[in-house]
Amino acid sequence: MSYRPARGQSEAERGEGLVGRTCGRPSDRFVHGLPTRHKRVEKRAPEPNDRSADEEDGPAAVTPGEPGGELGPPWDDLLAAALAAVREAADPGTLEAARVRFLGRNGEIPAALRAVGRLPAERRPAAGAAGNRVRTAVAAALTERAATLSRGELDARLATEVVDVTLPGRTPRQGHPHPLATTRAELERIFATLGFAVAEGPEVESEWYNFEALNMPSGHPARDSHDSFYLEDALAGEPAQGEGRLLLRTHTSPVQIRHMLARGGALPVRVVCPGRVYRRDDDATHSPMFHQLEGILVDRGISMAHLKGVLAEAARGLFGAKTRVRMRPSYFPFTEPSAEVDVSCVFCGGTGCATCKGSGWIEILGAGMVHPAVLTAGGYNPEEVSGFAFGIGIDRCAMLRFGIDQMRLLFEGDLRFLEQF
Ligand code: DAH
Repeated sequence: MSYRPARGQSEAERGEGLVGRTCGRPSDRFVHGLPTRHKRVEKRAPEPNDRSADEEDGPAAVTPGEPGGELGPPWDDLLAAALAAVREAADPGTLEAARVRFLGRNGEIPAALRAVGRLPAERRPAAGAAGNRVRTAVAAALTERAATLSRGELDARLATEVVDVTLPGRTPRQGHPHPLATTRAELERIFATLGFAVAEGPEVESEWYNFEALNMPSGHPARDSHDSFYLEDALAGEPAQGEGRLLLRTHTSPVQIRHMLARGGALPVRVVCPGRVYRRDDDATHSPMFHQLEGILVDRGISMAHLKGVLAEAARGLFGAKTRVRMRPSYFPFTEPSAEVDVSCVFCGGTGCATCKGSGWIEILGAGMVHPAVLTAGGYNPEEVSGFAFGIGIDRCAMLRFGIDQMRLLFEGDLRFLEQF
């Protein structure tokens, strides 16, 4: 007979209809087998659980759960037990345990089917067929129960895991360049349009590059203003011969020297050198780490006029076309003559305000004509070539561009501040 899975409790689940005609009720037990009195008695050695050898006649009482009795395995009991276990399984784990118990390789139904082989030959076909129907029915009940359980699981998840598709999405936070990074990039871009390349140098520098080669021999009073961070000898290791101790560079000017030496006397030398510098300074307008952009141009016949033209162009590029520059005499060991360069106040346009302290001018950089001793240290002959150099505070430029009054704000990483740019 065929088994039709049905909603609710099926025939199979009720344990009816499948084996009933064969062994469902005691009186029906032998419909497909031979009546006991016609049974051919096999003479063979008795086996455990096999009473056929010593019971020649009469139906034997079948002990439930004892496969291999004379009448064959107690299929209806097995079926009822299996279907009950399937029906009662409330979760996939329990259902699997029921499958293993009844249909697993060492499960009760396969064991009972093996026992059929030990029945008298004439009983085997009917007992085997009944067993197969039980196996099929239990397998079908398992499948149906599994489907029901997973449907239930899905329904439960659908009921609890509600997705509100109308909620606004979570937008990933997007970063953007720091005002210092954009200022540095803008400076590099402006100087690139004037023909300057970009070079970088080490932040841990030797005294020779940081001071000596820049015409600041040891004992030079200008070294004082550079409040340097020296590396402890243990950290510094063995400095190169004649280069002195190691320190965090106090300005980007040493990159001038490195670049001139790298050019090996070639002309022109035309480069800007941006980067971090370090000094023992810490207040509202100073930070122990800040940024400079060094510039140097060396060629034949370079004069102060070239310097002023380049700086004026750069100032207009950075602060606007109306910006004017002026130079005041000053002193730096590495330039002669030297100048402080001011731009017309970016806030008041030169009429005077609090930021420019009423002067209409704001100092943004130091500059001058490269000192002959510095050209010599860089491998150039001061009799043949001349050059100008300048050093711009990138942080100061950023503060002026964006109207920031405290340098600390640039380094604190406070998003409430940074998100404004
Ligand atoms: N190195 C100087 C400083 O840190 C800035 C500077 C001034 C650089 C004049 C120059 C220059 O190249 O010509 O204070």
